[in-house]
Amino acid sequence: MQIRLDKLIASAGLASRGEVRLLLRQGRVLVDGVPEKSADRKLDPEAVRVAVDGRELVYVAHHYYMLYKPPGVLSATEDGAGPTVLELMGETERRLGLFPVGRLDKDAEGLLLLTDDGDFCHRVISPKSGVEKTYYVETAVPVPEAAPAAFAAGLTLADGTRCRPAKLLLFGPGERRATVKLTEGKFHQVKRMMAAVGSPVTLLRRVAEGALALDPALAPGEWRALTEAEREAVFGEIRA
Ligand code: URA
Repeated sequence: MQIRLDKLIASAGLASRGEVRLLLRQGRVLVDGVPEKSADRKLDPEAVRVAVDGRELVYVAHHYYMLYKPPGVLSATEDGAGPTVLELMGETERRLGLFPVGRLDKDAEGLLLLTDDGDFCHRVISPKSGVEKTYYVETAVPVPEAAPAAFAAGLTLADGTRCRPAKLLLFGPGERRATVKLTEGKFHQVKRMMAAVGSPVTLLRRVAEGALALDPALAPGEWRALTEAEREAVFGEIRA
């Protein structure tokens, strides 16, 4: 696989595409030890060594992160209307062209994946892949004991929208807490499903996507790169 030199340097998050051109002009980029000035030179990142200011680049084709989205922050890359999840990340990560894998409502919290891999994003979100999203919910009134059966049968929402069969696990009789598991992501789906069984949601937290659980060591607003084992687990699921 051959990629442009400026893209390869930018993919390490060291600098924007514009800044990369400056680094090249200034002779600060070496390819196999030789200064290289042309941004459009195509090369195989596996076969050459590229160094910027003496630091060798490690090329990764795509980037994958998990973030604990706090309530009040938008799952968007930019928006005039308020802080976005990208603003919670570091300067290097903000340069990687990351976007959220699906959305969480502004008032919702929990696991949000971010990547620059559009194909991965599509497959995690697509109902066809069957990746189960798990949510912890708290409700205004106790969840009726008949609600899990209604979820399992496939709910019809107030506006006639039909939902796929889903799982609702109660914490116990009279509890205002439950776990919801869905393989689709319609607009406000968990809130609308809980409202349909008479238990409006007061707190909504995504705790897992497929095999990938929100790291309990992350506080709201914190993030980290996925480990190789986590990436493999998610890729295994979406390829299956
Ligand atoms: N369901 C919702 O209602 N909101 C979310 O953000 C995610 C799932």
